[in-house]
Amino acid sequence: MNPVKLTENVYWVGAVDWDVRDFHGYSTNRGTTYNAFLIMDEKITLIDTVKKSLKGDLLARISEIVDPEKIDYIVVNHVEMDHSGSLPEMVDLIKPEKIICSKMGEKALLQHFHQEDWPYEIAKPGEDVSLGKKTLSFLETRMLHWPDSMFTYLVEDQILFSSDAFGEHLGTSERFDDEVDQAILLEELTKYYANILTLYSPLVKKLIAKVKEMDLQIKMIAPDHGVIWRSNPGMAIEAYEKWSSHEGNGKALIIYDTMWHSTEVMAKEVGTGLQNEGISYQLLNLRYNHRSDVMREVLNASAIILGCPTLNNGLLPRMAGFLMYMRGLRPANKIGAAFGSFGWSGESVKLLNEAMTDMKFDVVDDGLKVKYVPEDADLSQCVELGQRVGQALKAKQSA
Ligand code: FEO
Repeated sequence: MNPVKLTENVYWVGAVDWDVRDFHGYSTNRGTTYNAFLIMDEKITLIDTVKKSLKGDLLARISEIVDPEKIDYIVVNHVEMDHSGSLPEMVDLIKPEKIICSKMGEKALLQHFHQEDWPYEIAKPGEDVSLGKKTLSFLETRMLHWPDSMFTYLVEDQILFSSDAFGEHLGTSERFDDEVDQAILLEELTKYYANILTLYSPLVKKLIAKVKEMDLQIKMIAPDHGVIWRSNPGMAIEAYEKWSSHEGNGKALIIYDTMWHSTEVMAKEVGTGLQNEGISYQLLNLRYNHRSDVMREVLNASAIILGCPTLNNGLLPRMAGFLMYMRGLRPANKIGAAFGSFGWSGESVKLLNEAMTDMKFDVVDDGLKVKYVPEDADLSQCVELGQRVGQALKAKQSA
């Protein structure tokens, strides 16, 4: 694949990772990209690098434009290895005059690569760096996604190089937002926010307010993963604004696992109760839905109903793992409820409720547990549980 021009003298020179299917526990079924950008000016500048295994792709694309050894500056917006894995070899080859990064970035680079003598230059908001005809300015964006993260803004071209923010794990031959299927783009943008950024929502909210206050003119957003937003950067910004406010879509999710189908039968009847209240819902069996796909749905949902039987005084392992994952991501502003079958001890419903209370979900009641196999009266109670959740949801929406 050739380099791709963004604007005059600005190019995408990154790499497409068609094969990656697991990104620290997040299922990347459509692969991803590690975006890097080359600015040709009096000071030739590379913004970010790529995963170590794809360094050859980066070098080949740069070489189509310029001898890589002629690069003067490397900007490191983020130190995580998907963007810095090939940095040591690139530094050896290029011998850059400056490696521009945040203060925390310098620390993180030292702790990753242990190179005291690299030419670090700390990027400071308000202190621009001139490349000749073009100018770089910087925004501190701590914890989006790591403490070292920052954005770089190319003033004359109005391009925001946004590191992990506004990205998607989407490996494609196309480079721009208007060239890909919009439904797939929204699905992957949603999944990315849900699995990477939900817990940093308060910071996302502040950042968007700050960018608005600065009246930053943004012609393009160039993240480090997925497509470059050239036609509709507003779509990504508006979506982040909505998600960071934890606005629900009025729908419910029934997320469950089952041992001998009793909890599954209960799940379906809880769904009937929701339907009776006119609530749109989805059944998500953890056996068939990857936790990162479930989190994509959790991001927008207004009610989360968890179902699990009791195993060894606890939860089935898939539910326990999912709860651990969801708690870490800290979704907020949800109504919660729990149900499950049991044989003799029956702790699962209590454990599910405790986990949701811990996440500050508004848990509607003590939940419902059924011994072994549900009979008609139990199934009626499942319908009633679904109805109670539906009523709570409608009351919240009309409040
Ligand atoms: Fe794409 Fe936080 O790295």
